[in-house]
Amino acid sequence: MKNILVLTGSPRELGNSALLANAFMEGAKENGHRVKVFETAFHPIAPCKACDKCWSGGKPCVFKDGFTDLAPLLEQAEILVFATPLYWFSMSAQIKSAIDKLYAYMKPEAKNKLKIEACVLLASAEGCEKDGDYDGLKATYKSIIDYLNLKDLGMILAGHIGQKGAILQSEYLKVAKDLGRSIKG
Ligand SMILES: Cc1cc2nc3c(=O)[nH]c(=O)nc-3n(C[C@H](O)[C@H](O)[C@H](O)COP(=O)(O)O)c2cc1C
Repeated sequence: MKNILVLTGSPRELGNSALLANAFMEGAKENGHRVKVFETAFHPIAPCKACDKCWSGGKPCVFKDGFTDLAPLLEQAEILVFATPLYWFSMSAQIKSAIDKLYAYMKPEAKNKLKIEACVLLASAEGCEKDGDYDGLKATYKSIIDYLNLKDLGMILAGHIGQKGAILQSEYLKVAKDLGRSIKG
């Protein structure tokens, strides 16, 4: 049994990437994992200000925003899942702001506070992987997991999914549920 934390990035309630996240979570729960979700779009996180005051107030960030609630969830997580719409060939700004604040955990005083060992990427886009639309997001994801020394447990890059709910007419939700089910632990 693993503690899985799913970070969603879309401001669309029950949008395509949120539905992918839900399907993944269903599969993972079936498999006995403990799953939590944090919707970055509904608990706004301000961009990192690079003030370098991390931990000076006892918390990772001195500013109070969505990250204040997210931090304890991050500290419990063993598997981190990013579920984002493709925005300008990358992740949404909402989820990126959460990732930027992982900066605090790179500080010497935060050594060993994170237990994350593996990662998953779920994304949806109007374009598709074959046409290169996902190259930027894939490169960012790969660089993040290499830097943090995390194992990649899988990527679902849903293509030709534009309108809200379009993913319901595709195979991707089944693929996401199967990926959730495949998580070992
Ligand atoms: C601000 C914005 C930027 C977008 N940028 C891209 C893009 O670069 N490439 C693409 O294929 N689709 C792009 N899209 C379309 C979304 O990725 C697509 O509709 C996705 O399925 C939305 O997921 P959601 O329903 O979870 O929000 C963009 C949409 C918005 C609103």
